[in-house]
Amino acid sequence: MQTLVSVGELRTRLSAWRQGGARIALVPTMGNLHEGHLELVRLAAREAERVVVSIFVNPTQFGPSEDFASYPRTPEADRAALAAEGVDAVFLPEEAEVYPLGRSAATQIRIPALMDDLCGRGRPGHFEGVATVVLRLLNMVGPDVAVFGQKDYQQQLVIRHLVRDLNVVTRILVAPISREADGLARSSRNQYLDPGERARAPALYAALRTVAAGLAEGGQSAAALCDAAMAGLQEAGLAPEYLEVRDAATLAPADPVRRPWVVLAAARLGRARLIDNLLIP
Ligand code: PAF
Repeated sequence: MQTLVSVGELRTRLSAWRQGGARIALVPTMGNLHEGHLELVRLAAREAERVVVSIFVNPTQFGPSEDFASYPRTPEADRAALAAEGVDAVFLPEEAEVYPLGRSAATQIRIPALMDDLCGRGRPGHFEGVATVVLRLLNMVGPDVAVFGQKDYQQQLVIRHLVRDLNVVTRILVAPISREADGLARSSRNQYLDPGERARAPALYAALRTVAAGLAEGGQSAAALCDAAMAGLQEAGLAPEYLEVRDAATLAPADPVRRPWVVLAAARLGRARLIDNLLIP
């Protein structure tokens, strides 16, 4: 497995692979890899002959009071896990490589219809940061396919939107949410949970399932089901930020005659902010 730190060496390596007829898949990550990331890597390997994983803790997607400084950075363990998966290259750029003109001069991408609601309400600027770094990585690597996880549901819609709108040729693939045995969606931030919090954390997924079951049964409105589920989360010791049923393609309020829907939730639990979602076909 190659470890590449500059765009120049990355492009040299990629162009040799392309000349040999290989398709390239990119899995963008912020490192501290867990089983969920490795599932993205395996999906990527089914779609392309060469897999590149980027590891970059992107400062522009963290708010001023968020965990950028303390975000877990484990490059050696990550490299070992990726080598064991047969990944061809890991791209580990420094900030100056990703933001060559500096953060304050960086080109911004804004999609107001998708960025300001749900997670965007509690994390202003977050999706602008995600969109700007993902477009940079797509431009640096020029992959045939890029793989993201469904846990970050709003993020994957933002990325699909920018790729379509800006005519980026990369195909975007979204992998199903990877869960622990008790239903908790895998996330690097789960390690912020103490044992008591970890035991309560699956309540988030349970709340989504309760809402989905209520919708399937009929008789109660989506709003009533979500209010009851939010109250249940509070009783379980979580601090929900939102729990809502939305149109799965646009995140507009769910229209009774237009499907699929998605139930999305975010909640704080100790130092962690958990997010999860469930598609309603
Ligand atoms: O989902 C993530 O890990 C990040 O938001 C991403 C897509 C790597 C951009 O920094």
